[in-house]
Amino acid sequence: MCGIVGYVGERRAAPLLLDGLRRLEYRGYDSAGLAMVTPLSPDGPGKGYGLDVIRRVGFVAELVKAVPEDLPGCTGVGHTRWATHGGVTEINAHPHVDAVERIAVIHNGIIENFASLRAHLEEEGVEFRSETDSEVLAHLIRKFYAGDPVEAVRSALAVVTGTWGIAVVFADHPEMIVASRNGSPLVVGKGDGETFLASDPHALASYTRSIVYLEDREIVKITREGWEISRLDGRKVSHAIEELGLELGSSEKGTFPHFMLKEIHEQPESLSRCLLGRVVPETGGAKLGGFDLSPREIVGIRRLGILGCGTSFHAGLVGALAMEQLARLPAFAEIASEFRYRNPVISSDDLFFAISQSGETADTIGAVQEAQTKGGRVMGVVNVVGSTIARTCARGVYVHSGPEIAVASTKAFTSQVAALLVASLMFGRSRMLGPAEGRAFGEDLLGVPERMRGWLETYGMAHTGPIVDAVELLIKARFVFFLGRGVSAAVAMEGALKLKEVAYIPCMSYPAAEMKHGPIALIDKQTPVVAIVPDDVMRDKTLSNVQEVRARGARVILIHTEGDHEAARLAEVAIPVPRASALITPLLSVLPLQLFAYRAGLALGRDIDRPRNLAKSVTVE
Ligand code: F6R
Repeated sequence: MCGIVGYVGERRAAPLLLDGLRRLEYRGYDSAGLAMVTPLSPDGPGKGYGLDVIRRVGFVAELVKAVPEDLPGCTGVGHTRWATHGGVTEINAHPHVDAVERIAVIHNGIIENFASLRAHLEEEGVEFRSETDSEVLAHLIRKFYAGDPVEAVRSALAVVTGTWGIAVVFADHPEMIVASRNGSPLVVGKGDGETFLASDPHALASYTRSIVYLEDREIVKITREGWEISRLDGRKVSHAIEELGLELGSSEKGTFPHFMLKEIHEQPESLSRCLLGRVVPETGGAKLGGFDLSPREIVGIRRLGILGCGTSFHAGLVGALAMEQLARLPAFAEIASEFRYRNPVISSDDLFFAISQSGETADTIGAVQEAQTKGGRVMGVVNVVGSTIARTCARGVYVHSGPEIAVASTKAFTSQVAALLVASLMFGRSRMLGPAEGRAFGEDLLGVPERMRGWLETYGMAHTGPIVDAVELLIKARFVFFLGRGVSAAVAMEGALKLKEVAYIPCMSYPAAEMKHGPIALIDKQTPVVAIVPDDVMRDKTLSNVQEVRARGARVILIHTEGDHEAARLAEVAIPVPRASALITPLLSVLPLQLFAYRAGLALGRDIDRPRNLAKSVTVE
């Protein structure tokens, strides 16, 4: 979602800001802009400074075209906007300026009381130019400005409710940025005689590795020399500088045409990284050091809730089933945005996992806070190191997928599922699971990266074969059904989500038996039905459901276990995946579904890595 970059130093800021914005493009946005503090006269700063604000609708490339190559100024802020309040127009793009155009503000998040603030400011004679909530900040800061930028921002934020990551430049203070965070991440980075600001450390990776994450309700004054952080209530704070992980630098496409394809093909490695040192064949168990739970504590847990959104929620569904099967621990997965507002009943022996690739999803953060407020223990299952969820949950594990840049999540899903399977094995061994069963499960799991690699070598890039045949059917469809049972119902949901978001093909997913309770009425002779039918205890039942849709003319695309010829015979297109124990099958059966979405999106000319209307990191609720 919206991105922020800032720079104060000795170099010309505009190229650095544009480069930072390019690195944030993967998060999803619809317009971009920057504000530079520039000398008023071409002869130098003798006549003082003003602001140059340039904004464009569309990609950063449009902004690059609009920014003069020799634009002066060594202090500036840049923004990518994902529209919330007000349409996608240049006027609504950030930065927003005050009436006299001496203060410029960029803002991520939502100002909840903006309507009343705006009405109040209008009564005082302020004329608004945009429809955004963010513009009120520029006018409020102007209202409170009496020469001290930090105090002006602090006073303005005191009357604001909502979430923000903001950065403000002042023409009167040409070597300073003031920034603050509340619910929307910000990180400052130290260079030599220069200081950087960003909403995502990716933007800083090529300039500095010495960073500090701001906490909620903190405000920072940024200068060339460094930064001063305080709380909004005035208390001074200092944070130790952290080293940015090296993996953040490797977010390049390499030889792949799209990040999504690259990330699909990275799964054997990302999965190995996730499993590394965590499955312990000697004991038949597993160890997730980040959870730091003794066997006695594990036995004391009465219920597990897994909270997440979108793909992460789907991984959570698999995790909840695995936890019940392997650990006989009552478990559920719930969409974080529902959980946070339904006033859930929580007791002190409940455990929650907050599952998130980005670690910045506003609804998941809200769910964590709700569970914590009610006395529940929450642990993170997160990909992005140092992200808000990772830091909000005192304990947790990283899934180690590495940077996931394509908006559609692929490798994070398989690593999330794997991390939850490892957790289920760990909990299982302290509860119900014997050493031999545990060892068999662990060894099966450790063998998945190799089976994935083999499958991707055969099908991942093939120009003919069942994936191509399936995509032919899918791209002509008015809509597509995805069916499965048990963990495969979660995989069906994930397959449908991928095809919707990347190829924009309407899809529905159902637990297979549910079809006959209504949705089967939609099936006609054109309808592709993707059925996920691994050779598990539900196979025969699901095949009966496949027969039901076949009898009504559906064109069946069947994902089945290698060697299951009887199942394959029921399909118009049959796609084998390697054998694995039932709970592990999602790691393999999701691969063809990821490729369906990628290839259908490609065939239909979609923007694969940045599908319309979507953002990689959903930082508003
Ligand atoms: C789908 C997708 C989204 C995310 C969801 C949660 O491909 O990427 O559905 O899974 O927005 O995001 P995280 O995992 O970052 O909390």
